[in-house]
Amino acid sequence: MDTINMDELFRMARAAADAAYAPYSRFRVGAALLSAEGTVFSGCNVENRSYGLTICAERSAVVQGVSRGCRSFIALAISTPDSAEPVGPCGACRQVLSEFMESGAPVRFGGSGVKQVDTTIGELYPYDSLHDLAGTI
Ligand code: THU
Repeated sequence: MDTINMDELFRMARAAADAAYAPYSRFRVGAALLSAEGTVFSGCNVENRSYGLTICAERSAVVQGVSRGCRSFIALAISTPDSAEPVGPCGACRQVLSEFMESGAPVRFGGSGVKQVDTTIGELYPYDSLHDLAGTI
């Protein structure tokens, strides 16, 4: 397998943030998910005036990919251009991402500053005891 270009994936996440619909929080988020087949699916946060219906950028990207038949993603980048510091995915997104990513899959997230965090799904969502349930019932 080719080496994953996390710099390029992060640039795609940053571009995805420009499509964010975030009139309430004014906090744009972009995500770029690399599928096992080599396709990148991006997503942005989509807010709603009924605040709890907001969908995060990460889950938006998952829905894009799964809707096109992808069930396995091998890398993720998240951009939060409205924060200087990196902002990691929320708990709900960590759960959803873990459904379609192996624990060793690389994740990079960063804000507008120079600092970026390089980690893995497994580090973000450890002790994922439900991961192997699919197909057992
Ligand atoms: N948000 C994401 O898109 N991803 C995250 O992991 C954290 C939060 C969005 C939701 C909301 O539109 C805005 O950021 C502020 O919470």
